Amino acid sequence: MKELEKIVPSAEIPVMEPQRQFYFMDIAKQYVARLEEKKGRKLTFCVNTFGCQMNARDSEKLCGILEAVGYVETDTEEADFVIYNTCTVRENANNKVYGRLGYLQGLKRKNPDMIIALCGCMMQEEKVVEKLKKSYRYVNLIFGTHNIYKFAELIVQTFESDKMVIDIWKDTDKIVEELPVERKYRFKSGVNIMFGCNNFCSYCIVPYVRGRERSRKPQDIIREIEGLVADGVVEVMLLGQNVNSYGKNLDVPVTFAELLQEIEKIDGLERIRFMTSHPKDLSDELIEVMKHSKKICKHLHLPLQSGSSRVLKEMNRRYTKEQYLALVDRIRAAVPDIALTTDIIVGFPGETEEDFEETMDVVRKVQYDSAFTFIYSKRTGTPAAEKEDQVPEAVVKERFDRLLAEVQTIAAKKAQAYEGQTLPVLVEEVNEHDKNLVTGRLSNNSVVHFPGDSSLIGKIVDVCLKECKGFYYMGEQCEK
Ligand code: SAH
Ligand code: SF4
Ligand code: F3S
Repeated sequence: MKELEKIVPSAEIPVMEPQRQFYFMDIAKQYVARLEEKKGRKLTFCVNTFGCQMNARDSEKLCGILEAVGYVETDTEEADFVIYNTCTVRENANNKVYGRLGYLQGLKRKNPDMIIALCGCMMQEEKVVEKLKKSYRYVNLIFGTHNIYKFAELIVQTFESDKMVIDIWKDTDKIVEELPVERKYRFKSGVNIMFGCNNFCSYCIVPYVRGRERSRKPQDIIREIEGLVADGVVEVMLLGQNVNSYGKNLDVPVTFAELLQEIEKIDGLERIRFMTSHPKDLSDELIEVMKHSKKICKHLHLPLQSGSSRVLKEMNRRYTKEQYLALVDRIRAAVPDIALTTDIIVGFPGETEEDFEETMDVVRKVQYDSAFTFIYSKRTGTPAAEKEDQVPEAVVKERFDRLLAEVQTIAAKKAQAYEGQTLPVLVEEVNEHDKNLVTGRLSNNSVVHFPGDSSLIGKIVDVCLKECKGFYYMGEQCEK
């Protein structure tokens, strides 16, 4: 963007955050205004999210900054600022990004002023950045997960540089509060309660790309949720890689269960969700709080990964099959109508047919309401990638199909059991395919479609589940 005349700031650059970023937002705004003048129209942006809910929440922060500096959101990538918020948890997440970058290059030929930016977990890998530097010269800006709060400053650097701007940090202990956020939904929001992960499951790259675990202070979280509620939010999803270890590293330690009790007190907040819970840290205190809570949703995502105690040990999960099953029993005894969902990896190095059968056994015993099943993906730099006994692809595929069939059969049976019941639904949107229907979610996270209009969006209404269609319900609004 070198042709833009450099803006000479009138004030000194603040050292403290977030003031420093507000200062850069102001400068970025001036560059955007100049470009608007040059083009004779508003500038547009598109944020594309590739990863998990934490990644999605980060994208809302990116949108918040882009809107604050004057860009207008569009849902196509034919935009003036396109940013990919990447994920690297499995190899295929990675490949998708390279594939789409070729397409962006074509768009940039048509609009040379277009800025292409990349951020997120994949950018924390050295070999990725090397590859981008070598073969994707048309990318303007690359940054990582630890300095996302600097986005405004990086936008300004991009406007002022004719080279690729790259800013990747190895780690950080910093948490910057109070920056603008643009929520995707008016009535529900993710809320980060912690960042990073210290668990180092042997297959997982997240601890390497997200850094060490750090918790936000409870008062900052409460203040954020109070603000969200004042702005129309009725449901929050508390986010962390392992919410059950929340608060351990704070100056004044707080448990996740204590945090939940504080959040429960917020007037006007109707529903509380959280993810992800690591089974090794799920306390009886938390089960007790869930049992008595009026707001915590009847849904727990409890990643199993494998049902074989031997494999779990190799995965460094720090629980056994028996401990996991006992935990499920305790949860179900306290909250009988809770929906349980999970993540399972098939084909971890050295997984035998017997190991896999142990996984199938847990699936049958627990009867999950739904499960995300993944084929093991080798992530360079993790201990599991060094293992020599990688399972042959054909064997993994065959096991994966068997697992998926079992998971789906059980899920369909579990869903069927709710047919005929009347339950509260938080209405999320007008149905994409049929404008006479709205779509919402039960406390247990299942999807329900029923006749209604946009005036219901954000409201919680009682719906009779007339018909179960496998993974969702058709319902009708009715009196209880
Ligand atoms: N912190 C969360 C998981 C985050 S990653 C937890 O511990 O549950 C989401 C899911 O991706 C994991 O639960 C796991 O099932 C899957 N996953 C992570 N690394 C993987 C890999 N290398 N191959 C396949 N699946 C993986
Ligand atoms: Fe990965 Fe394990 Fe951390 Fe989850 S808890 S992010 S699976 S290392
Ligand atoms: Fe992916 Fe990063 Fe989330 S690797 S799963 S986007 S924490």
